[in-house]
Amino acid sequence: MPPLTMNRRAFVDASLAGGLALWLGRGRRPASRLADARIEVLLDEPIGMIAPEIYGHFTENLGGVIYDGVWVGQDSAVPNVHGVRKALVDALARIKPSVIRWPGGCDADAYDWRDGVGPAGRRPRRTNFWADDPALASLGNVPARFDPNQFGTGEFLHFCRLVGAEPYLAANVRMLPARVFEQWVEYCNAPAGSTTWADVRAAAGDRDPYGVRFWGIGNEAWGCGGNFTPEEYAEEFRRFATWGVPRYGVDLAYVASGPSGGDIEWTRRFFSAMAERRALGTVWGWSLHHYSSADGPGADAVAFDDRGWYDLLASADRMDALLAAHWEQMGVTDRKHHVKLVVDEWGAWHTSAPAGGPSHLFESQSTIRDALVAGLTLDTFNRNAEKVAMANVAQLVNCIQSLFLAHEDRFVVTPVYHVFAMYAAHQGAQALRTMVSAPRVSWSAKDGNPRTLWGLAGSASRQGRAITLTVTNPSLSAAREAEIVLRGGAPASVRVTTLAARDVHDVNTFDRPDTVRPATVDVVVSGPTLIYRFPPASVTKLELAVG
Ligand code: AHR
Repeated sequence: MPPLTMNRRAFVDASLAGGLALWLGRGRRPASRLADARIEVLLDEPIGMIAPEIYGHFTENLGGVIYDGVWVGQDSAVPNVHGVRKALVDALARIKPSVIRWPGGCDADAYDWRDGVGPAGRRPRRTNFWADDPALASLGNVPARFDPNQFGTGEFLHFCRLVGAEPYLAANVRMLPARVFEQWVEYCNAPAGSTTWADVRAAAGDRDPYGVRFWGIGNEAWGCGGNFTPEEYAEEFRRFATWGVPRYGVDLAYVASGPSGGDIEWTRRFFSAMAERRALGTVWGWSLHHYSSADGPGADAVAFDDRGWYDLLASADRMDALLAAHWEQMGVTDRKHHVKLVVDEWGAWHTSAPAGGPSHLFESQSTIRDALVAGLTLDTFNRNAEKVAMANVAQLVNCIQSLFLAHEDRFVVTPVYHVFAMYAAHQGAQALRTMVSAPRVSWSAKDGNPRTLWGLAGSASRQGRAITLTVTNPSLSAAREAEIVLRGGAPASVRVTTLAARDVHDVNTFDRPDTVRPATVDVVVSGPTLIYRFPPASVTKLELAVG
């Protein structure tokens, strides 16, 4: 790859897998015409702290997520830590998983936490929410259909501790009364010796309370979580999350089951019903679910066509408008925005092609296309740091938009994992307003009409002297040369990590685990301006140290 421009003092050739060039200039600034895009990071314009919980995960007893993915059992030949797959623990801990949601999803409203506590040998087998899915119907008594309850509350809490994540539990509103929910809080948070449930926990080896803070009151209450109207659900929410729930010194944070995608009416009616009863103060988070997808050949996780590439990215990009629309509606009744958004299910949902066998319901491979979905979505959350308090990618392993694929003793990280690793630096940082201008990309829709999407998008954050800038380039063919300016400072050094693929259909498999992986270069510089060439179909992180 020839250099973009030559300057005896300050040219750096930083060729990487995908091919890129970096120019960092001290004296005369490169003329803007050299670059076809511009990124300006406004160091003095903070948006808000990026909640670490935005980098959260989701695990449900669905297909191969828990059994085979997370839980292999203590007696397994698969290396494990008290029954949890060791390779998963090691890889997940490295990317700072702030929070993990469990047990669902739809299975939350079919799950009784009491089945998953106490001696493992005495736990009952129960029918899983997904037991009748046609893809599982012929498989017999597999855990994906009938939950053996070997992975219960204690095992989940241990998993969270092993990887350094906060637990986020979702209560069953469809089938169980509020009393059972309250007893779950008691089981988790009451001191040993205080109640019978606390003693059941202590007898299992956990004398210290878990101190669980995040509680979802049901899941998708408009659908699998009870098919409620917003008003009916508001009534249930008030019953469950009343001030009467004992706190045991924990600042409980309740998440209400919000809309699917653009269902603004669900938001409007729930908030109105809660405001009428002066109960909005009990809501900490408003959950939003958005799955992106493409149709036709674009629905295939790997063999998608060009249109499917762009359609999927555009579908994921709806997140920005969804956050804005629901936030605006929430503000009509919640004027001070006491309630924040919790996007506790997001990801790209393709037609399934399980690498780990037919019991891995909804499992699909991930390509660089899914990595871009992850990058542009996380950038969207960062840019909306003042609105989004938590987000959970669906789902962690062997499912939709997964970071990992695992089967028996085999394990691999997907390109989505690499994005989470790259973006971890944003956690807890101050989001900075960032202006991006680049020529839009265009493609033709199914009906032949032209569609367009931004040419580059990203987000920036600051922790002390460290600036993290992450950027996605959605173009399948065009590298994008961007002039990058830090307004209010100058970079002293730059480290660039790029995730790109030789072929956008490449995947990481158990046999070829490193086909799609990031590459990093370090550059020592001083000067106000840099020009960077973002490869096509890439996710990039620039770590800039300012003087
Ligand atoms: O993540 C898969 C399913 O999608 C979840 O169980 C449900 O909440 C959503 O519809």
